[in-house]
Amino acid sequence: MPSRSILAGIGAYLPERIVSNAELALTVDTTDAWIRERTGIQQRHFSAPHETAAFMGTEAAKAALADAGALPSDVDGIILATSTPDQAFPATALRVQAALGVTKGFGFDLAAACAGFIYALSVADSMIKCGQAKGVLVIGSEVYSRILNWQDRGTCVLFGDGAGAVFLRAGEGTGSDQGILSTHIHAQGTLGDILYVDGAVGQPDKPGHLVMHGREVFRHAVTRLAEAVQEALDANKLTADDVDWLVPHQANRRIIDAMGRKLGLAPERVVITVEDHANTSAASVPLALCQAWKDGRIKRGELVLLEALGGGLVWGSALVRM
Ligand code: COA
Repeated sequence: MPSRSILAGIGAYLPERIVSNAELALTVDTTDAWIRERTGIQQRHFSAPHETAAFMGTEAAKAALADAGALPSDVDGIILATSTPDQAFPATALRVQAALGVTKGFGFDLAAACAGFIYALSVADSMIKCGQAKGVLVIGSEVYSRILNWQDRGTCVLFGDGAGAVFLRAGEGTGSDQGILSTHIHAQGTLGDILYVDGAVGQPDKPGHLVMHGREVFRHAVTRLAEAVQEALDANKLTADDVDWLVPHQANRRIIDAMGRKLGLAPERVVITVEDHANTSAASVPLALCQAWKDGRIKRGELVLLEALGGGLVWGSALVRM
């Protein structure tokens, strides 16, 4: 019987510096009221120079390993989702590997924007199921503050920095349904121009800034995420009534509320961190998961539905029995 991927531990890291909407409004032509009304965001964390994707990913990974009672020697592989790596190479995952003192296994970065953590979870789950690894760190770590266009008030107020991680451990078939029940990932490259970064290290003199056509992204997000959630439930012959917690991508309070309503979940069953973190892209789902895990809301045995969508367009869902 193939192994299941158990979420053995969860960890997170947020930069020390918190920037409120009011502070942002000192340098950007915006208001606290506009940001709150349209997005629900009240504040975000911005990285100091040393708080890179590798640094924050390492801290989140350490916390996830500690939460699992695991050691660096238990790690067979590291998959790190990011759009803001420290360097083109080595992969940020390998900077984390070195910092943790992990000396075996594989490591690579995965670029799927805000759906990166769901994508990474899907890849790690497949590797565990096929017996290629027994312990995998799945990390989302982002420093979007470095790719924001401060002249574009429609985007620069929406994002923050941070990292989240889970340690997946192979659980042999015990008859229990604990672990990742399913993942579903999708992409539509023809929508690449509604949310993108207009540069990269491979482009001359163009490190790149985030560009977004907000309304179009909003429209696709509501439709695609609803499909991904339904797909997860159908694949497991479950209904929304079976779901204990929705942990959605934290981009916009209005999208999150729409998803909760679609599922018919009581608002207190939807984990929301967008007020405090803003959109941390690949880090947003594990950061939210970690918060509800640490404060005791999410408990072992409960069914948790994760979903995210990002530039690409990429989107997906994961259903997990904790
Ligand atoms: N502060 C104040 N005014 C702002 C502003 C800001 N930060 N940003 C934009 N505005 C203004 C615009 O200039 C525009 O003014 P105008 O009507 O005088 O031209 C007005 O607000 C409406 O702008 P618009 O971009 O149409 O707003 P919107 O209602 O679509 O909301 C978003 C913008 C970004 C909040 C919304 O589109 C959204 O949430 N999209 C999805 C984003 C998302 O989820 N992205 C991540 C996916 S990973």
